[in-house]
Amino acid sequence: MLKKIVVFASGTGSNFRKIKEFIDNKKIKGSIVLLISNNPKCGAVEFSKLNNIDYKIINDFRYKNEENKNYEYELVLKSYKTELILLAGFMKKIPDNIISIYKNKIMNIHPSMLPKYGGSGYYGMKVHREIIKNKENNTGATVHFVNEHYDKGPIIIQKKIKVQNSDTPKSLASRVLKVEHEIYPKAVKAFCSNKITIKDNQVKINE
Ligand code: GRF
Repeated sequence: MLKKIVVFASGTGSNFRKIKEFIDNKKIKGSIVLLISNNPKCGAVEFSKLNNIDYKIINDFRYKNEENKNYEYELVLKSYKTELILLAGFMKKIPDNIISIYKNKIMNIHPSMLPKYGGSGYYGMKVHREIIKNKENNTGATVHFVNEHYDKGPIIIQKKIKVQNSDTPKSLASRVLKVEHEIYPKAVKAFCSNKITIKDNQVKINE
């Protein structure tokens, strides 16, 4: 059976596209049933339209009441029988009701070697700028499960790269993104093939 995946994205959606590519090539036993975005004009929504993937816009403009908005996520995810949620550049906080219903079923990709350069305030180019400013030798990307503590859920896969002397935040961002495109599909593939086990908050990928 293909696992029903819902992607949350607010931006370009390159991770979303990469995972879709793996699914189309039958490398992942899953199916992207829905995209949820807060931004109707983003690349991820555009991609959904072009590929006939259902999408749903949930934002403060459409849902003025916070409680209604949080409940809407729940209703939509249930109606699609969601088995796995993938955060791929989603710029909004995931409400607590969703985190508790989908415990260890929400993954996120982060552009650093967590726990370093994680937590609120560390997102996008800010991470890469700090890495360069602090003259770090290494950086990388992390796929982790999402829990109630920002960027602190169990780590699924990480991959490190060297920071070059010539790197700028922009060049680093693009090399880290390549790593993201490598490790995110790997993590999703393992999940969809039921190869992930979690014990005492430690993730094991059973080969
Ligand atoms: C990535 O850098 C990811 O680490 C972060 O958001 C960005 C999303 O990029 N969480 P894209 O929209 O998938 O290209």
